[in-house]
Amino acid sequence: MEKIIIAAVSANGVIGQDGKLPWKSKFDLQHFRKTTIGFPVIMGRKTFESIGKILDSRLNIVLSKKIFLDSKKENLLVFKSFKNAIEFCNTKNFEKVFFIGGERIFDRAMKIADRIILTKFNLIVQGDKFFPEINDKIWKLEDKKKLKGFMVLYYTRKK
Ligand SMILES: NC(=O)c1ccc[n+]([C@@H]2O[C@H](COP(=O)([O-])OP(=O)(O)OC[C@H]3O[C@@H](n4cnc5c(N)ncnc54)[C@H](OP(=O)(O)O)[C@@H]3O)[C@@H](O)[C@H]2O)c1
Repeated sequence: MEKIIIAAVSANGVIGQDGKLPWKSKFDLQHFRKTTIGFPVIMGRKTFESIGKILDSRLNIVLSKKIFLDSKKENLLVFKSFKNAIEFCNTKNFEKVFFIGGERIFDRAMKIADRIILTKFNLIVQGDKFFPEINDKIWKLEDKKKLKGFMVLYYTRKK
C-alpha cells in the first residue's frame, strides 16, 4: 500500500488559519479530487469538520479520540489512533492511501509516507497551522508541474 501525503502550502509554509484554508482555489480542489478519487483519505477531526461533508467516492477515515461520529454513514470510518487507522488500511490491501491533513496528521504521516504531493501557492499568508519541514536528506523532489495559479511538487522518500 502506497502512503501518500497530499497538502497545499503557502510560500511561508502555512496550511491553515482559524480552522480554514487561507486561500480559495477551485483548480487546487480539482487537482485534489482527481488525485484522491477512489482511494481512502485519512484526516484529523478538525479537517473533517472544516470540510463539512463526507468527500464523495472515497473512504473518509477520520481520527478522533473524543468525539463520536456516526460511523455507520457510508464511506465514513472513525479511528481513535493513527496506528489503528494504518492497521485497518493494511488489512484491506488498498493500493494507495492519502493523508490529507491537518497539521498533526501531516507531522505523523511524514514518518511513514512514501510520497508527498505538495501544492505550493506563491503567497505569503497569516496562519496558525503549518506543514512540517521537508528534509532533503530524506525526500527527493522528483517532479514539478505548473497548474493554474500554483505549482505541484512531487517528492518521494529516498531509499
Ligand atoms: N492546506 C492543506 O493542505 C490542509 C489540509 C487539511 C487541513 N488544513 C487546515 O488545517 C487546519 C486543521 O488542522 P489541525 O491541525 O488544526 O487539525 P486536524 O489534524 O485536522 O485535527 C486534529 C484532531 O484530529 C484528531 N487527531 C489528530 N491526530 C490524532 C491521533 N494520532 N489519534 C487520534 N486522534 C487524532 C484529534 O481529534 P479529537 O480532538 O476529536 O480527539 C485532534 O484534535 C484547518 O485550518 C484546515 O483548513 C489544511
